[in-house]
Amino acid sequence: MAGGTGTRLWPLSREQYPKQFLTLIGPLSLFQQTAQRATGIDNAVAPVVLGSEDHRFVIAEQLQDIEIKPSAILLEPQSRNTLAAAAVAAQHIAVRHGEDAFAFLMAADHYIADFVAFQLATYAAAQAATRDCIVTFGITPTRPETGYGYIRSGETIDQNDVRAVEQFVEKPNAETARTFLASGDYFWNGGMFLFRCGHFLEELRRLEPETYERSLHAVQYARQDNGFTHLDAEAFSLCRNDSIDYAVMEKTQRIALVPLDAGWEDVGSWSYLDHMPSDDPSQNHTEGDVLLEDATGNLVHASSRLVALIGVDDHIVVETDDAVLVAPKDRAQDIKRVVQSLKRDK
Ligand code: GDD
Ligand code: MG
Repeated sequence: MAGGTGTRLWPLSREQYPKQFLTLIGPLSLFQQTAQRATGIDNAVAPVVLGSEDHRFVIAEQLQDIEIKPSAILLEPQSRNTLAAAAVAAQHIAVRHGEDAFAFLMAADHYIADFVAFQLATYAAAQAATRDCIVTFGITPTRPETGYGYIRSGETIDQNDVRAVEQFVEKPNAETARTFLASGDYFWNGGMFLFRCGHFLEELRRLEPETYERSLHAVQYARQDNGFTHLDAEAFSLCRNDSIDYAVMEKTQRIALVPLDAGWEDVGSWSYLDHMPSDDPSQNHTEGDVLLEDATGNLVHASSRLVALIGVDDHIVVETDDAVLVAPKDRAQDIKRVVQSLKRDK
């Protein structure tokens, strides 16, 4: 799923070139790293990419650069969030490979340090998905993050440490997140889902019948052109605009969880830099040409000019050619407001 806009990483992440296509950690973009992870799973066909019409050339170029030939690039005429993306993916795979094919729905904005641990968890998830449940990956939470889903796990259901799920709560408020963290009973939702397509589609038909129908039409009436699959615009626009987390995961009874301890990081906002290793005794994270005097705990990104900070603590400073952002670190989630107001003024 590579169709997000990455607004909280403004001004580096832009509508035409959002975060998943930027090289934020390591030499490859997060999207390329995701495509490589997908390709590295045994018995998997080449990845199906779900993205926006606007990004089709970036998607194709970035895959070509790492010599991955996708089995399809499904293009969304407009952004309808992850429910619609998951729905068309499941429909497409069921049509191509049958309802018993498994789909592993991966986000394109994750960094995963330990591929082997990730692979092992994937095998455990694939086994669990044969019991007709949607399998999600559970990350041990370290802070009361409000940008994630929380999952209360129940009893262990197989020898691979797969757990039953008692409750799924998407993006709780700060107070609830603190209670969940303190209880020790919750995992973060890793934002990746593995399921048998036929099972997911049954749940979708039950919970979101309209989106079930429309997503099938979007795939059936899609237009092929030069390696791209243009989903039918009218049908796709009638899919409900919601995330898979709210529309399906909070409602379905049939979820299982595989714990994942693989150095997972959602690169959702500038705060991600805070969770990357740093050699600086003053806990600053810097990229580019940065000079610091008497400054601690800052996240500084300089694209093309020298950026100097004196006597500044716990701030985000991002310099790009045409925009500069300065914000206290604890307001990292509010950066999307700047983007919203820029859009309004357009
Ligand atoms: N194709 C497509 N179309 N992809 C999309 C769209 C869309 O309209 N919207 C978002 N995506 C992609 C993003 O690019 C990202 O790779 C992934 O879907 C998840 O979207 P985010 O917007 O990053 O979701 P989130 O991080 O707020 O929340 C999700 O992930 C968390 C962990 O990373 C949820 O699943 C949370 O429960 C979870 O904790
Ligand atoms: Mg995310």
